[in-house]
Amino acid sequence: MPMVRSDDPLWYKDAVFYQLHVKSFCDSNGDGIGDFPGLTSTLDHIASLGIDCVWLQPMYPSPLKDGGYDISDYTSIHPRYGTLRDFDCFLDAAHARGLRVIIELVLNHTSDEHPWFVDARRSRDSPHRDWYVWSDTDDKYRDARIIFLDTERSNWTWDPISRAYYWHRFFSHQPDLNYDHPAVREEIWKVMAFWLDRGVDGFRVDAVPYLVERDGTSCENLPETHAVMKDLRARLDAHYTGKVLLAEANMWPEDIRSYFGDEDEFHMALHFPIMPRLFLALRREDRTPLLDILARTPSIPASCQWALFLRNHDELTLEMVTDADRQYMWDEYATDPRARLNLGIRRRLAPLLNGDRRQIELMTSLLMSLPGSPIVYYGDEIGMGDNVALDDRNSVRTPMQWTDGLNAGFSSADPERLCLPLVSDAQYGYTAVNVTAQQHDPASLLNWTRRLIDVRHSTPVFGRGATTFLTPGNHAVLAFTRTLDQQTILVVCNLAGTAQTAALELGHLGDAVPVGMFDGRSWPRLTPDPYLVTLGPYEFAWLHLKRL
Ligand code: BGC
Repeated sequence: MPMVRSDDPLWYKDAVFYQLHVKSFCDSNGDGIGDFPGLTSTLDHIASLGIDCVWLQPMYPSPLKDGGYDISDYTSIHPRYGTLRDFDCFLDAAHARGLRVIIELVLNHTSDEHPWFVDARRSRDSPHRDWYVWSDTDDKYRDARIIFLDTERSNWTWDPISRAYYWHRFFSHQPDLNYDHPAVREEIWKVMAFWLDRGVDGFRVDAVPYLVERDGTSCENLPETHAVMKDLRARLDAHYTGKVLLAEANMWPEDIRSYFGDEDEFHMALHFPIMPRLFLALRREDRTPLLDILARTPSIPASCQWALFLRNHDELTLEMVTDADRQYMWDEYATDPRARLNLGIRRRLAPLLNGDRRQIELMTSLLMSLPGSPIVYYGDEIGMGDNVALDDRNSVRTPMQWTDGLNAGFSSADPERLCLPLVSDAQYGYTAVNVTAQQHDPASLLNWTRRLIDVRHSTPVFGRGATTFLTPGNHAVLAFTRTLDQQTILVVCNLAGTAQTAALELGHLGDAVPVGMFDGRSWPRLTPDPYLVTLGPYEFAWLHLKRL
């Protein structure tokens, strides 16, 4: 029985997202590589988790030197993953289950194997020459930093064919498109329309801040870049409804805020700076880093929404923290030097938290209750591990662990043919951590996560409510209220590994009775006096304040 998707154009405010790469999810034809028919066969798992929208990482033809973020054809599917028809079947099957799907839009750059770039470098007079950014010297735009510090020495690379330098903010095989050229903007809109017409529900837009370059600037967040996005948004609004644009702008809160514009750029933006501060607050057993960054976060227009995440397909980025905090994070969370990459840590959630179920639950509860829409990274719902012996960010991109059988149920290929090796260590290997085993265990992380999402969905407060932070003297306790219309939810969390007590000032909320949202248990009625709460190690509670 097909589920009906909400026809509210602001659906993304209530949605829980699930991020995955088709390559690593499920292989249907036994070639060792995940594909669309495989992914389609697993939609029940995603739907049963309570997910509303799948964020699909790049599935385009690509030389795959950067996980597919190096696109060589924007209007097709990589043959390894299936055909356009397979994609359409997947999209229909997702929609039939009430799931939306957003795909990746890599605007900033193409692969150097894209026919546009092949033509552009062929000669200085070729029709696509100005679709990219060229220079006779490598000293323009000197104030632009290098992002992939571990591999790149310059943002310019010499092209021996046309004897000039081309500009790239990421890998040297990813030349930046030139957004000063109207034909580029036109072409990208055509790409968007191609996928929107097939029925996708929006885009996660990659590497947004870097679209336009200007000398004497950092070449990031420029007004001209905003103008490009405003143009694309206006076209989107003119032709479609209910679609979402999600910005990847790894920036400070005030800079990310600018990508919401006046409700005329992005609907959503990933809140990068919150993420490392959740990990900092946990290790320091002190809410201060989190509250500081939230205090620094400007309010956003009514139709806009933050996107929150704990982990994703990249390294846990530490670009938006101080040098001292970065060092602290490395010391605490990346003791194995192989776990470090660029300015980050290439590990998954469960191993970062030493596999401690209480810490995983606490962090996931924050993901689901702080202001914004949560994104779950595939595999984190079962506590999958990582493999830092693999290169680059492949450590956190290993195949999904479905069963304890051959290749974790991911593929019937010979194990050596898998796109990436399975995690197979004693603690996180697929014999110990897999979907099937957790389905059958009522107390599993999977079933706990389902319940958490279910409770989140029981009210629009988490997605839409106002947030007020309390400031009890005990900094190990994080407490806040979420309020929408007449409904208030109190969230209390113990960030420490020992029991903690805090006195909460809740007098202004009258004499409501806090009722546990998971167990229905009533807590003592609020009074004008400070409200004493005691929480066990890493314990949290979501409490409905009821007028009884
Ligand atoms: C993606 C990365 C990718 C980079 C360059 C990012 O922001 O998340 O995985 O390497 O863009 O395309």
